[in-house]
Amino acid sequence: MSDSQVSAAVAKLYDTYPYPPEPILDEPPPGYNWRWNWLAAYNFCTGRKPQKQDVRILDAGCGSGVSTEYLVHLNPHAQIVGIDLSAGTLEVAKKRCQSSGADRVEFHHLSIYDVEQIPGKFDLINCVGVLHHLPDPVRGIQALAKKLATDGLMHIFVYGELGRWEIQLIQKAIALLQGNIKGDYHDGVQVGRKIFASLPESNRIVKREKERWALENQQDECFADMYVHPQETDYNIDTLFQLIDASGLEFISFSNPGFWQLETLLAKAPELIERAGELSERERYRLIELLNPEVSHYEFFLGRPPITKTNWSNDNSLLAAVPELNPCIDGFPSQCLFNYDYQIVNLSPAEFDFMQKCNGSATLANILAQVELDLNGVRNLLKQQLLLLTPSERV
Ligand SMILES: C[S@@+](CC[C@H](N)C(=O)[O-])C[C@H]1O[C@@H](n2cnc3c(N)ncnc32)[C@H](O)[C@@H]1O
Repeated sequence: MSDSQVSAAVAKLYDTYPYPPEPILDEPPPGYNWRWNWLAAYNFCTGRKPQKQDVRILDAGCGSGVSTEYLVHLNPHAQIVGIDLSAGTLEVAKKRCQSSGADRVEFHHLSIYDVEQIPGKFDLINCVGVLHHLPDPVRGIQALAKKLATDGLMHIFVYGELGRWEIQLIQKAIALLQGNIKGDYHDGVQVGRKIFASLPESNRIVKREKERWALENQQDECFADMYVHPQETDYNIDTLFQLIDASGLEFISFSNPGFWQLETLLAKAPELIERAGELSERERYRLIELLNPEVSHYEFFLGRPPITKTNWSNDNSLLAAVPELNPCIDGFPSQCLFNYDYQIVNLSPAEFDFMQKCNGSATLANILAQVELDLNGVRNLLKQQLLLLTPSERV
């Protein structure tokens, strides 16, 4: 198939099965995803609060608008643009945003390849679950990179081949059984469901489906997205970094850094962790995925080089900075709260006292004069992403 035939087939899949199939609400969606909060994402990537909040955000391949709706509600000063290849899916996205009052958004029926048709640049580009469905992902990421503002961030999610091995097998089996009616997605879903109903319980693919995917795959939209897709590229660390290098942007960090810890895998072999110290960053990631082939996707931030990260090792700079609470924490004021990643954090009385005084105008030096906490205590809170810091212009 030519690239344009592939794109037409992809659009037809999502016209048939708009994704994701979340219910439409008449109020803002619950909770947060910090990756869609400009302040939290920028702070995660650079170690400091961004200078502006009236940013432009692009949701590239916005689907049925679940992420778009969060982007609007979590960034009250931002203008959001959503684009998608599937007109049917865009209709759902528009309805979703209208219904919850997410009105700072415009939608365009447009391919990522043609994103240059939208004037101006974007401070945050969110492209989740999309590039791997383009016939030419490099062309897609390059088109997006051209639209990224100088101090901007791009958040990307693409599939990983190691954790999707069983999925690939079923995809191929369905395609074989469908023969020349592959473009009939209803038939593909039916064939796939019959396969799963027929295979023995002990079958390796069935076991994997049950333990990992079955819950979401009860909905046909999810089942179709997973098993009858006309176009999918799955990555490993080597091919992922080829894609990133082709974008001309710089890799900042995975946005699920907890997964990428060699220490949790080789805790009983410190000598091997020491040996791994010789590896490059990419080799280290490759080692991790080889040891933990669960990885079914990669999610990460890119930025335009050079990217500066403030590490706050200088005491004077830290003391002169103005702290405030990360907007993506839940349960404060309380000593027990959820952090940006919905992990429970228990604050000491001194930490709690300190955080209550972080009002976005007092400097750290001012606040520390009133509480029991020291600079190491503050650095510990920073490491947990509980605070945003605005650097002083005078230091
Ligand atoms: C798996 S869905 C992801 C939706 C959304 N980003 C999310 O994560 O909830 C993939 C979406 O990408 C869209 N898409 C695929 N190729 C595209 C392209 N070339 N340009 C724009 N959108 C595209 C599809 O129409 C579909 O809505």
